[in-house]
Amino acid sequence: MLSDFDALKEHFADSSGLHSLDALDMTRIPRHISCIMDGNGRWAEARGLMRAEGHKQGIVALREIITTAVRLGIDVLSAYAFSTENWNRPQHEVNLLMHLFAKTFIDELPLLKRENVQVRFLGDIGALPKKTRDVFEMGLAECRQHTGMVLALAVNYGGRAELVRAVQDLAQLVQSGDMRPEDISEAHLAEHLYTANLPDPELVIRTSGEMRVSNYLLYQIAYSEFYITDTYWPDFDRWELLEAIYAYQQRQRRFGGLVSVSNTPA
Ligand code: FPP
Repeated sequence: MLSDFDALKEHFADSSGLHSLDALDMTRIPRHISCIMDGNGRWAEARGLMRAEGHKQGIVALREIITTAVRLGIDVLSAYAFSTENWNRPQHEVNLLMHLFAKTFIDELPLLKRENVQVRFLGDIGALPKKTRDVFEMGLAECRQHTGMVLALAVNYGGRAELVRAVQDLAQLVQSGDMRPEDISEAHLAEHLYTANLPDPELVIRTSGEMRVSNYLLYQIAYSEFYITDTYWPDFDRWELLEAIYAYQQRQRRFGGLVSVSNTPA
């Protein structure tokens, strides 16, 4: 039986990354890594392929990042799959993405089971087409007993909409007399976000070089470190994930203070 670290080394056996696994401080792996998966369309266009091929390859990349994150012992991996603004894309692309989400979830269920991955959706999945919604609900039920890494998929997610929803929940509690306005705290607000009970991401990765937050986890990323890479999402692989974590480990996090706070998870 391989030890966890040996298994991890085996996972990186054909290492060609700039930093070897040995360069990482395994005691300071972020608990929550979040990915803004961008550049699927441009990856395809650069190869003269249909955008659909970029999304399909993006799913292959996500699979590799999930298995790597599990081996690294990450607690939460979140990924931005579809924003509340993505409905504005051409109808055929929206349809394709909804179809791919459902198909991917069915195809990847064996992997999620094998890796004991807990699944959460961030966003209003009730507003998705029925077939996609049904598959997601079936998948959630299938993964309910899992106890391993949390995979949080942001689908039909918008950070502003999430905050409005949380404020409405709290307003209801005030209206019903269950809470006083002055008692509302940051912790209460966080409890009413889709990410309730999940740690905030220490590291946010955005691919394809865009320097934007794009309405993603607006509340939760207050003190996150960013790693922006020109790599298009379909080419983002386990080596670059190591690069991102290595870069994170070189940062000094001060959370608004003057003293550097260890980026070791508590
Ligand atoms: C951004 O590329 C990517 C997306 C809109 C979709 C990403 C989704 C996945 C990889 C699959 C997720 C799987 C499940 C089950 C939810 P883009 O189209 O914005 O690329 P562009 O900026 O180059 O046009």
